[in-house]
Amino acid sequence: MTDILDPWGGWGPAIRDDPFGHFAKARTRCPVQRVRLADGHPAWVVLGYDAARHALNDPRISKDMLAALQDNGDVVAEGLPGPEFSRHMLNVDPPDHTRLRRLMSRAFIPPAIAALEPAIRGIASHLLDELDAAGPHAIVDLIEGYAYPLPFGVIGELLGIPAADRPRLHAWFQVLLTGWAGDPPPEAVEASDGIVAYLAELVAAKRQRPAGDLVSVLVAAEDGALTSQELLSSLFQLVVAGHDTTASLIGNGVVALLDHPGQLRALLAEPGRLPAAIDELIRFTAPVPHATFRVTTEPVTLDGVEIPAHEQVLVSLGSANRDPGRFPSPDVLDVGRSDGPNLGFGHGIHYCLGAPLARLEARVAFDELLGRHPGLRLAVDREALAWAHGDGLVLRGLVSLPVVLGPGRRPG
Ligand code: HEM
Repeated sequence: MTDILDPWGGWGPAIRDDPFGHFAKARTRCPVQRVRLADGHPAWVVLGYDAARHALNDPRISKDMLAALQDNGDVVAEGLPGPEFSRHMLNVDPPDHTRLRRLMSRAFIPPAIAALEPAIRGIASHLLDELDAAGPHAIVDLIEGYAYPLPFGVIGELLGIPAADRPRLHAWFQVLLTGWAGDPPPEAVEASDGIVAYLAELVAAKRQRPAGDLVSVLVAAEDGALTSQELLSSLFQLVVAGHDTTASLIGNGVVALLDHPGQLRALLAEPGRLPAAIDELIRFTAPVPHATFRVTTEPVTLDGVEIPAHEQVLVSLGSANRDPGRFPSPDVLDVGRSDGPNLGFGHGIHYCLGAPLARLEARVAFDELLGRHPGLRLAVDREALAWAHGDGLVLRGLVSLPVVLGPGRRPG
């Protein structure tokens, strides 16, 4: 096996802003290939749709990265917060995964999600009122003022995080999700410590005074079915998984619609198309371009390529969702597309638990925004927009999205 490997991740602005051409070239060369990550570690990247779907559902490709770290310190770099906060669903295999997922699922059953709609609409409408206060011709940042605080407010409601505490948590998460190369900078360590201490306090408070929120439900289960390490890890993961992803979908989706005015007009004319459009925007804009890391526990052959045991595997959802073998004209945004499901929320036992909530949040976010401001436009040149998120592997979202909202059609 050659050691001269193509780099994957840590890309410069050209690829980071529009990675899809790069993915297509690599996929055409080989749908499964060995690459070198920005941190220097080797990994296998899976780019074709069929191979990606298979990899996400193969029990020989494990999510227990901590065990891999212990077995082979060379494979995985430690992240923040430390390993003691890493016992959550995305880092474990069955039977632990089955137990944790069953507990968490209680908060994500369809009636519980549907019941959140009025609260989500209230948050969206309130945020738009605040942006509108700047006047119809003002330049506002749609990421800071809408796309980000909306899902953050929703996850706060779901977990029962008091509204007064949210700005502090929000600031810490922003530091942590910016990403860095090499050792974490002091502000990231401080943010991570702050979040960890805050979540421990929240759990203690809910233990004393339980309410109807998810943290209270999990605290009640803690003694029997969940260790306190699993509880804190799961809360941390839920906040991370639950807001930046959806914020990126809203921001990326607005830009994609502004790039395709015909598609935007079709949606404005028929808002009933929104649910299908949300899935197409996920496929097309890849808010989560790669699934989280996996590791082979034994040799696995994908698309005729054998990946040896104990190797890191990175499944490129963004590439798989543009595979022409699966989606005709994959580089065309078509809000009426009816090609069936894409891999944007993953596949198999780790399929996104929050997918129904994310879809609802995005539907409400676009409905409120476009219903009120159908004429919104970019306030900067398209090329001036910058996509960034750490190494660009697991999250793809805009740093900011300056827009002019224009006159409001619907009062707040
Ligand atoms: C547009 C928004 C979202 C996208 C694109 C997205 C995408 C994903 C993907 C691709 C995975 C699988 C990762 C893997 O297999 O490595 C995943 C897992 C997960 N997501 Fe989401 N997600 C979104 C929103 C949310 C929200 C709002 C929540 C919760 C409030 C959430 C909670 C989770 C959880 C708990 C898992 C782990 C499930 C498991 O391991 O069984 N996600 N998500």
